[in-house]
Amino acid sequence: MLKAIILIGGPEKGTRFRPLSLDTPKPLFPIAGKPVIQHHIEACVRIKELKEILILGFYPASQMQQFVSNMQNLYDVNIRYLQEFTSLGTAGGMYHFRDQIRSGNPSAFFVLNGDVCADFPLQQLYDFHVSKGEKALVSIMGTEATRQQAVHYGCLVLGKDEEVTHYVEKPRTYVSTLINCGVYVCSMELFARMGNVFHSKQMDYNTLNNGNGKDLGHIQLEQEILTPLAGTGLMYALPVSNWWSQIKTAGSAIYANRHYLALYKNTHPERLANAGLKAAEDSNGSLVCNIIPDVHIHPTASVHPTATLGPNVSVGPGVVIAAGVRIRESIILENAVIKDHTLVLHSIVGRSSQIGMWARVEGTPSDPDPNKPFAKMENPPLFNNDGRLNPSITILGYSVSVPSEMVLLNSIVLPHKELSRSFKNEIIL
Ligand code: GTP
Repeated sequence: MLKAIILIGGPEKGTRFRPLSLDTPKPLFPIAGKPVIQHHIEACVRIKELKEILILGFYPASQMQQFVSNMQNLYDVNIRYLQEFTSLGTAGGMYHFRDQIRSGNPSAFFVLNGDVCADFPLQQLYDFHVSKGEKALVSIMGTEATRQQAVHYGCLVLGKDEEVTHYVEKPRTYVSTLINCGVYVCSMELFARMGNVFHSKQMDYNTLNNGNGKDLGHIQLEQEILTPLAGTGLMYALPVSNWWSQIKTAGSAIYANRHYLALYKNTHPERLANAGLKAAEDSNGSLVCNIIPDVHIHPTASVHPTATLGPNVSVGPGVVIAAGVRIRESIILENAVIKDHTLVLHSIVGRSSQIGMWARVEGTPSDPDPNKPFAKMENPPLFNNDGRLNPSITILGYSVSVPSEMVLLNSIVLPHKELSRSFKNEIIL
């Protein structure tokens, strides 16, 4: 029997995802029509020996309850949320809840960072872990990055038989281009390692009074467990070339949306709106708009037959899209209304936002550089060195209203704003 842990952090994390994380925890933000971590759950439930998924974080349980019960109803495995009383780091929570993870006697468990997206080759990673025999405590999914970007990740050096001989988290200088994807298979014996770190910290507390403001149970998997395991013959990495990215900034949501929609072609074709001519009839006999694949439209959304959507558009529940609207490379969240002949490009339109007629809402994509092999998203800071906003996708927070005929370019609008003019390269607070 196997289990999986999904690490989701808490409200203080995900700051670069604002303002979208102001009303929805980042792990529940819908990408390709499904909350970020539902994609993790779907990857886990494909493993037939997997019987339980534990979501670990320090969000209040009340924010996760509805999602967890929805997931429990949808999938045939046990799914629970375990709330850390404070941030315990990427391994402290697992150690704290070790009895719950061990119960039922699983032979191993997956660990998935909640802020990555991928087509998670979990079976391949598990088979790899098993092939390394009893000695393997951890197997890491690895991927290639560029030389410049690799230093922003955990860097892996491999020796014979894919053994990790060296692991440095966010090194100051170049170590290797093989990076840690935040997806692991761990053996149960790993808890003994976590225990050693935990107990040595208790000793420190008695003598040094733990000065870093973190709880004593705070353990970082990468620095405190993986780095010392490198070179001991107990840790391995499987380099894969599957699609993988982190979800840090809102711009990365548009990028992830495109890839998850593309994956639906194989995994869930029923979630994609059919490419077709204007006013073609879909299988329910209702009118569909002009679709340029890939597009996901929630069944409760209403899209006028003369609107044109795609490529890479997700439309949430209750959304209303009027005549002649054109949308591409964008996510339109629940109950938003887009009036006639408006154009939306490279943008995220927040829940219950309204855009008037003949408006233009446009952002700048922040995709990885297509000319550099293995390039990842840059995730630039909001402002450049001159204090100007870096070009980014345009984001409308919750319940924003944009009047007719306005132009909104590369701007971020905080929730509940009623705009009265056009904006370019601004944050509207
Ligand atoms: P940054 O570049 O600083 O964001 O770091 P990172 O990419 O290395 O990510 P980080 O180590 O902060 O987090 C990795 C994953 O663990 C993410 O999915 C986080 O949501 C999650 N995480 C981080 N801290 C905690 C924690 O205290 N508890 C739990 N349960 N999860 C955490």
